[in-house]
Amino acid sequence: MSSQNSSAMPAITGPVLITGGAGYIGSHTTRLLRQLKVPTVVLDNLSAGHQRFVQGPFEKADLGDCAALDRIFSTHKPKAVVHFAAKTYVGESVTEPSKYYLENVHFTWNLLEAMRAHGCRDIVFSSSCATYGNPQRIPIDEAHPQLPISPYGRTKLHMEHMLEDFSRAYGLRFAALRYFNAAGASQSGELGEIHAPETHLIPLVLFAALGLRQKISVFGNDYDTPDGTCIRDYVHVEDLARAHVQALGKLQDGIARLACNLGTGTGFSVLEVIDACQRVSGRPVHVEIAPRREGDPPRLISGGSAALDLLGWAPQRARLDDIVGDAWRFHLAEAQSAKKSS
Ligand code: UFG
Repeated sequence: MSSQNSSAMPAITGPVLITGGAGYIGSHTTRLLRQLKVPTVVLDNLSAGHQRFVQGPFEKADLGDCAALDRIFSTHKPKAVVHFAAKTYVGESVTEPSKYYLENVHFTWNLLEAMRAHGCRDIVFSSSCATYGNPQRIPIDEAHPQLPISPYGRTKLHMEHMLEDFSRAYGLRFAALRYFNAAGASQSGELGEIHAPETHLIPLVLFAALGLRQKISVFGNDYDTPDGTCIRDYVHVEDLARAHVQALGKLQDGIARLACNLGTGTGFSVLEVIDACQRVSGRPVHVEIAPRREGDPPRLISGGSAALDLLGWAPQRARLDDIVGDAWRFHLAEAQSAKKSS
């Protein structure tokens, strides 16, 4: 087992249905549950997820397919759901909001109806710091107003509201986990971040270090921050996975509703991340300064103590060089195996 501390993990009653379990955070969470000997079933349509990341029983299905959902709930009788499946591109959500309302909001409704019909009442939900919108204060605690500025953020907030309403009316128990910037890869090297297209900073800088792209563009260096570039709170994907398991434990202990931020409380600028990537990889990266990207707040840093108070969760792998180092090992191995097979 990796350095994840299983002795501190709650006993979970399964099976647990993981939607989006072939994706980045979903596959890490499935892996941890299975390490803890919790029966799982992954539901993924593989539109963004990866077959090779799937672990254990798998249902290739779409949350738009209510008959498939009904069959999956009848067959596997999940005791709880961890719901990752969603569209996740902020920029695309602006140009194609319909996809986001359909796949994030409507498909979540389908899932909740299936849970209701089959008497499954516990759900851990992937929310986002994007539900807060432009920060009115830093760090952003859980009491910060939720005023999202993108359709992506708005769909995540609609989903939180739906969970809240279903909880009050139908006894659903839910945990909404508001991630800051998910990053890193499994320390074992087998799981990591693969998006198509890739838009996230750390993998893009590492692709430049690997020579898979010529350079990294820094989106703006005239922000009101110490080095002029945007600051984000990068949280290790294995720490995120652990938070989901701890949240499931709390729901199964009888807590009805909880929402918390998942971040480290420490911010790093774009230039600091690029430095870390060069340091860890030992390879230089060509950097160019580009215009600001629309909708990027200068600083997003997690605050609040709900994760610690309600889940007993704190990040264990928060050093930037560790986060970047795990991502580097994963992408280096990917590049080497792509080269071998070409
Ligand atoms: N950046 C660059 N160059 C790049 C890519 C990113 O300078 O090529 C910068 C961005 O402008 C931003 C920072 O690096 O300042 C991090 O950008 P990411 O795209 O990696 O992540 P975001 O902070 O934009 O997005 C994250 C999550 C989203 C979530 C959003 C909330 O990935 O799911 O935070 O604002 F919605």
